[in-house]
Amino acid sequence: MWLYLVTLVGLYYLLRWYRERQVVSNLQDKHVFITGCDSGFGNLLSRQLDRRGMRVLAACLTEKGAEELRNKTSDRLKTVILDVTKTESVVEATQWVKERVGNRGLWGLVNNAGISIPSGLNEFLKKEHFAKILDVNLLGMIDVTLSMLPLVRKAKGRVVNVSSILGRLCMFGGGYCISKYGVEAFSDSLRRELSYFGAKVAIIEPGFFQTAISSSDRHLSCNKMLWDQASSEVKEIYDEKFLLSYETTIKLLDKLCNKDLSMVTDCMEHALTSRHPRTRYSAGWDAKLFYIPVSYLPTFLADRILFWTSTKPEKAL
Ligand SMILES: NC(=O)c1ccc[n+]([C@@H]2O[C@H](COP(=O)([O-])OP(=O)(O)OC[C@H]3O[C@@H](n4cnc5c(N)ncnc54)[C@H](OP(=O)(O)O)[C@@H]3O)[C@@H](O)[C@H]2O)c1
Repeated sequence: MWLYLVTLVGLYYLLRWYRERQVVSNLQDKHVFITGCDSGFGNLLSRQLDRRGMRVLAACLTEKGAEELRNKTSDRLKTVILDVTKTESVVEATQWVKERVGNRGLWGLVNNAGISIPSGLNEFLKKEHFAKILDVNLLGMIDVTLSMLPLVRKAKGRVVNVSSILGRLCMFGGGYCISKYGVEAFSDSLRRELSYFGAKVAIIEPGFFQTAISSSDRHLSCNKMLWDQASSEVKEIYDEKFLLSYETTIKLLDKLCNKDLSMVTDCMEHALTSRHPRTRYSAGWDAKLFYIPVSYLPTFLADRILFWTSTKPEKAL
């Protein structure tokens, strides 16, 4: 009985492995547009796909980031400046892409640009802090996608949306997790709509990785700014002692962050180059072994686990 079961599971994984390693043809003729290429995953993915011979159209937020990327890549890779929160910038970038892809359409759109601060405890935040993150991570992604969609449909191509394990399991307050839950929902509806036209949508769900977005320095100074702005009532509940242990947690999380960004960019590359891409890619051992399994637990159990691991204000206990 057990032997049959193990053989069946083994056969399933063997077939899946064989199916997933089939690569689409003529990669060197395919254009991929990637947002947020100044640093982190976007920057590494641009260089990775460029080495693979694909035609990378890399969107950077700054000219400095674009110049540094051009210096590290072949002449095939082209850059454009894009701020995903500005519709004029999105329209200009779309026109720029249109001129480069011509009748072939756009094979790949990677929505990667993102920010993570201001984040923290909800009580420390104001509506505009939530809006700032949603504007980049969710509304910016939606604007870019809607603008580029006709080009992707034409190529029967792929949309790759960068979400997070925090789009499956909300672990802190503020706009970041909300934006990633939104990315999941947007991607699900888009996948169903685009399936009529032979285009595909993949969602990338990384765990914690060491990039600018997760840097403890950024989060610590954001935390200090939020503390300085907080009302005396909030400061009384969450006292200095709480603040110190919250900062220790931020520093610890930074130390635990995975340094191998290729775990994420390999998933993105697979989503763009495999004939049979997955719908969801969880990247990193923390995502696979902890966050995704916890996200499937009954809510009361997931809440208990997150309660044990969180920083708690003494006065509330
Ligand atoms: N690192 C992680 O642990 C982790 C985990 C899960 C998901 N993610 C997601 O992965 C994606 C990439 O993040 P990353 O970790 O590679 O961090 P990153 O190095 O900070 O990359 C984010 C990029 O987005 C750019 N950007 C910021 N605001 C923008 C805007 N308004 N318009 C266009 N571009 C903008 C940034 O430019 P500047 O550098 O000039 O600010 C930066 O190049 C994000 O969507 C993030 O939410 C990251």
